[in-house]
Amino acid sequence: MVETKIFSVAPENIDAGVILSAVDVVRQGGLVAFPTETVYGLGADALNARAVEKVFEAKGRPADNPLIVHVSGEDRLFDFVDEMPAIGSELIKHFWPGPLTLVVKRTFLVPDIVAAHLDTVAVRMPNHPVALALLREFGGGVVAPSANLSGRPSPTTAQHVLNDLRGKVDMILDAGPTSIGVESTVVDITSDPPLILRLGGLPLERIAEVASKVRMSKEIELLQRSPGTHHRHYAPAAMVVLVDEGNQEAYAAAVQTHRQQGKKVGAIVHSVALANLERSEFVHALPNSFEIIARKLYSLLRSLDDAGVEVIVIEAVQDIGLGAAIMDRLRRAAESS
Ligand code: TXA
Ligand code: MG
Repeated sequence: MVETKIFSVAPENIDAGVILSAVDVVRQGGLVAFPTETVYGLGADALNARAVEKVFEAKGRPADNPLIVHVSGEDRLFDFVDEMPAIGSELIKHFWPGPLTLVVKRTFLVPDIVAAHLDTVAVRMPNHPVALALLREFGGGVVAPSANLSGRPSPTTAQHVLNDLRGKVDMILDAGPTSIGVESTVVDITSDPPLILRLGGLPLERIAEVASKVRMSKEIELLQRSPGTHHRHYAPAAMVVLVDEGNQEAYAAAVQTHRQQGKKVGAIVHSVALANLERSEFVHALPNSFEIIARKLYSLLRSLDDAGVEVIVIEAVQDIGLGAAIMDRLRRAAESS
């Protein structure tokens, strides 16, 4: 056990002293949780295999699930990336810093544990002033999986990190709730056409404007290229039941069935049709906006779990743009219920 220190950092007025002490922790092989624009990450020196091992231990993460190396710019990739395909530079030009992770061929410097023994590495430049200040000051690459216990919803606040990792992380940089709320989009560009391995904060449609042939990976390709994805993911402890958007009958039936079984039922809805059906403590009605639903989703799943809710009925969103990433997480959560 370590003593977990928390520092508040104002993104618009970053305390250089706090960043320096965070960098010290990383240099000494410790763990620092920090905000990105997507979710909070659990950071460690990407070239220090023992530090990276601590990340796996702290999260209880299966060893076959590789990590993303975070950098402060394309010019910091040389230690990690063996070959950047032209399409990669093009995507970087358009979308970095931002919620886009690229999977590329790795160098021999990348510890095997980072890449889960694959011959590739995932890299990303986050778009958050605190993350960038830390990465710039450190100078190298920082591995950062989402800073949650493996299998739980990713953390969008420092409190979520503390709830999962108190005593296991040396320092948490708290810059308030993250703005996007779902993880980065992961694109494998070792093959042509590029393959989406995980939908996320950067919509597929935006990527297609730059890489017109990009497509979703099939299940089998995903398992070959990203073996760790078969593990349980993004799920609250409660059972998740998905109902079609605006379907009052399906919603009422789902709620009733589980209530009749004596279960504590909660809900997350956004359409007027469902929001007006019932108001209660555990029913959260969100505005009908992908951005807001993405930003609030994990936090609501966690708070419903904390309240002891056993079944969460969630209204599906349209499967386009950021909605596709939301639906991906909701389906996974519903599947593992
Ligand atoms: O938004 C994000 O990406 C956050 C923040 C902290 O940056 N990080 C994050 O990391 O979500 P994590 O570890 O929770 O998810 C990493 C994803 C996993 O789906 C993993 O399979 C994939 O990236 N990945 C990492 N390295 C890979 C590789 N070499 N090949 C294929 N997939 C890889
Ligand atoms: Mg994760």
